[in-house]
Amino acid sequence: MARRGAIIWSLAAVGTVMLGGAAWLWWAAENADATIRLTPDDAQTVAAGEAVYKEYCAQCHGPNLKGQADWRERLPSGRLPAPPHDRTGHTWHHPDAQLFDLTKRGPAAVVGGDYESDMPAYAGTLTDDEIVAVLSYIKSTWPPAVRRRHDDINQRADQRSMQR
Ligand code: HEC
Repeated sequence: MARRGAIIWSLAAVGTVMLGGAAWLWWAAENADATIRLTPDDAQTVAAGEAVYKEYCAQCHGPNLKGQADWRERLPSGRLPAPPHDRTGHTWHHPDAQLFDLTKRGPAAVVGGDYESDMPAYAGTLTDDEIVAVLSYIKSTWPPAVRRRHDDINQRADQRSMQR
């Protein structure tokens, strides 16, 4: 199970394309909700999202979205540190719906089994709109090239969900 969790965000970073693809399909099959769409160009949403980020996410993911030190190495507890949300991290490799799901249900529920994560689920703490806002804020900080690649990732995820 721990391995499945690591797949959640470390694979594309190391370029293991085949396995990464399998993990995507596994996730998409269970959870795709193509109606979730981030709005990083909506100034009001981004401002609201920044406030949510500072209150709920910055303590782990860092005030500048840089994550925790040595985020690819497991902690003594066996859990993963909080990864950065800037372009050096892995967040932008996930389509909108998956980012939403990870935040709403928490990594442990998304990965399933006995997988453990230090990140809580935000269902019950944040509304769906607040989750979309905080993720929109995160996306708004990415450089244009990364945002374009993320748009492509969304498009591919949409195509996959339409094929089902
Ligand atoms: C208590 C620490 C903590 C807080 C607070 C926290 N996170 Fe996390 N987050 C983590 C950890 C640790 C991970 C690594 C995933 C894992 O445990 O497998 C993570 C992973 C993620 C991921 C997946 C990133 C990837 O590259 O796959 C997203 C998205 C995310 N967090 C969003 C948020 C948002 C949005 C908030 C605020 C609403 C937040 N997190 C608050 C600890 C935290």
